[in-house]
Amino acid sequence: MHVITIPQEKSLMGVAVDDMDVLGAPDADLASLKQLVYTHKIVVLKNQKLDPAEFVALGRRLGEVETYYQPMYHHPEHREIFVSSNVKKEGEQVGVPQTGKFWHHDYSFMPRPFGLTLIYPQVIPRGERGTLFIDLEAAYEQLPEKLKNEIEGTRVLNSVRRYFKIRPTDVYRPISEIIAEIEETTPAIAHPTVFPHPVTGRPVLYISEAVSFQLVDGEGKALRDGLLEDLFTAVGQSDTTFTHPAIHLQRFDEGDLLIWDNRSLVHRALHTVNPEPTVSFRVTVHDEYEFYPGIGQP
Ligand SMILES: [Fe+2]
Repeated sequence: MHVITIPQEKSLMGVAVDDMDVLGAPDADLASLKQLVYTHKIVVLKNQKLDPAEFVALGRRLGEVETYYQPMYHHPEHREIFVSSNVKKEGEQVGVPQTGKFWHHDYSFMPRPFGLTLIYPQVIPRGERGTLFIDLEAAYEQLPEKLKNEIEGTRVLNSVRRYFKIRPTDVYRPISEIIAEIEETTPAIAHPTVFPHPVTGRPVLYISEAVSFQLVDGEGKALRDGLLEDLFTAVGQSDTTFTHPAIHLQRFDEGDLLIWDNRSLVHRALHTVNPEPTVSFRVTVHDEYEFYPGIGQP
């Protein structure tokens, strides 16, 4: 496996691998690849030529593939692929446009999030392109001691409700009924505000601007007003100019396949005023480690 640095200005994380036959490689290489992801947070696999079935097969080589709970995002032939697209195919919308324009982890509003996200851009804009990332393992280390102390032993409540996308099937439904359905299928879920990364062992701050709405202590009592906002500000998630020193823009080119550590990174789509045609496939994977120690236990 040939690991190279990614030539781009202001690079805070990530490496590239330029010679990997991901389906033909021995298991040991896949294990090394995952290790690279945990250590460097983003790995860009260069020169990939996978069809949708092969992309899913790569996901299966890395762990247990998670299929998104909302069918409107599914690839028509491979439901394990989540399609983000603003390009119509034969007049039909495939997948969902304008996804992820807010800081989030994938699936942090679910009881069992997954460790790895794979993105394989299919139609790449010529101009502004890439995904923004913040490493919340690195960010935790930089937090002022006062904030670290305030969140020790606490939990964060997450919900999908703020950015839930209205589905075509929701047209003409009362909004109250849709909200009630969201609360029923995806009730707010509590995760530790900070947990040790199962591979690096370093503490990870697990909050996102899109999904996290309340911090609570061990008894479930709300922590002080403004604490969550103070944390968002400290780590760069409140910065609407995207110039905070912790923000990394990961660019990609044709043939690139990105794998990132979904435990420690929050990400968001680039904000573009006039979006060019963009299509991206996503496969998400539970690796062999618990997402955090004791997840799912009462
Ligand atoms: Fe995402």
